Amino acid sequence: MAQQEDVFKKIVSHCKEYGFVFPSSDIYDGLGAVYDYGQNGVELKNNIKQYWWQSMVLLHENIVGIDAAIFMHPTTWKASGHVDAFNDPLIDNRDSKKRYRADVLIEEQMAKYEDKIQKEVEKAQKRFGDSFDEAKFRATNERVLENQKKYDDLHHRFQEVMNAEGGIDLDGLKQIILDEGIVCPISGTRNWTDVRQFNLMFKTEMGSTADGASTIYLRPETAQGIFVNYLNVQKTGRMKLPFGIAQIGKAFRNEIVARQFIFRMREFEQMEMQFFIQPGTELDWFAKWKEYRMKWHQNLGFGAENYRFHDHDKLAHYANAATDIEFHMPFGFKEVEGIHSRTNFDLSQHAKYSGKKIEYFDPETNESYTPYVIETSIGVDRMFLSIMCHSYEEQLLPDGQTRTVLHLPAALAPVKLAVFPLTKKDGMPEKAQEIINDLRFHFNCKYEEKDQIGKRYRRMDAIGCPYCVTVDQQTLEDNTVTLRDRDTMEQKRVAISDLRSIIEDKVSITSLLKKLL
Ligand code: GAP
Repeated sequence: MAQQEDVFKKIVSHCKEYGFVFPSSDIYDGLGAVYDYGQNGVELKNNIKQYWWQSMVLLHENIVGIDAAIFMHPTTWKASGHVDAFNDPLIDNRDSKKRYRADVLIEEQMAKYEDKIQKEVEKAQKRFGDSFDEAKFRATNERVLENQKKYDDLHHRFQEVMNAEGGIDLDGLKQIILDEGIVCPISGTRNWTDVRQFNLMFKTEMGSTADGASTIYLRPETAQGIFVNYLNVQKTGRMKLPFGIAQIGKAFRNEIVARQFIFRMREFEQMEMQFFIQPGTELDWFAKWKEYRMKWHQNLGFGAENYRFHDHDKLAHYANAATDIEFHMPFGFKEVEGIHSRTNFDLSQHAKYSGKKIEYFDPETNESYTPYVIETSIGVDRMFLSIMCHSYEEQLLPDGQTRTVLHLPAALAPVKLAVFPLTKKDGMPEKAQEIINDLRFHFNCKYEEKDQIGKRYRRMDAIGCPYCVTVDQQTLEDNTVTLRDRDTMEQKRVAISDLRSIIEDKVSITSLLKKLL
């Protein structure tokens, strides 16, 4: 665990050192849980967005995109339930004056029990080697059973208070914290306040105060921009059910606990798609979208074992199925995407609050109804983080040296090809520029002439550039270059005229998209 935390710290500093992610307003020491993407980060982020957008909008004839405003009519959030119910339970420690999410403190306590079990299993695994029977060990070892019972009891109690009639049982949450002896990590004391609900939406004012400014919110999800545009898109696009509307955009949440780098931010980006369907078909569509979205993730080649579904057993009152796609981050399996069957809740609420009829006339059944919705909702930043975590490697080379390399999927890498002149003379820089001038229309290229070739390779490995080309004396004679592969570090001699055809297919988003069909 400690080792994994170290790796995570290294990834965070790598992101800063190589221009992927900087703390926001860094010269003023940053702003809590807000980050800026640097010169390489923005390219990787744009590629992730392109992969998602094209897989949704380009590959599905019945999905179209929109780009709604961040500011929306305040009644939107009353209708959606966010004004009344988009809350987290918070608790303060009176000694340290630090604020925590009460539910997260309890989840961390459960994770401690899981860790203890895992450590026992790993110890026994080492001791018994190949003859180790994990299932039997888990079912019989006293310490494992003891911690499993503590975990199960806590989990059961936690579920009860979180899903109490009429909303979360706040006193019940506090009682668990006291009973479990959870202490503040800063002060080390149990001097807790009561648990209170805290609304996560940021408020601001529109219009000048003198002529009666109205309170509006920074949207906490992009989905509502899609729901309020359902009629506009359906009518102007003459869309027939089933059809989807996709959107990528910023969302804002005043998170109480904002930790783990870009995993939980106060300003982040979502890629959401609402798929409008005939009532009664939702469970079929839910299963289809679950499968498609998992395929989209696994298509990146990170290994199926690093993903899992977490089906929700307790559902929001308007949902009839919900699951998360979780990815194995250095700090455990964590949600990257949510897939929800939301019935007709949102459209009905907007119909009620706006007084507009939001229905679909089905020419096949001659009926009008409010469509049901399947939603797929993924965080761009969490996707970015999962890619970084999986790609980062400190590799020990056969000659005893080490290199830090990002094994980014080539199609998502910020820079696809780096071109180096071996030396700064004999026309090599000009030849290298010539290659770039020819290829820059097809993919992102970078010219580098400073330092020894070995150092230049290392810099490119560190930003995940899949290919490097070196222009040398022989190039000037026969128009061939050495092409070096980031992952194998193998070099081969190829003709300049073949470069595009060798590289383009491997680094294009199209190559990823084709594997989805
Ligand atoms: N419209 C549904 C919705 O917003 P959600 O589970 O609250 O559902 C969807 O959010 C996704 O947005 C999450 O799976 C996560 O990837 C991302 N997300 C949510 N809150 C986030 C935060 N504070 N920082 C970064 N990403 C976040």
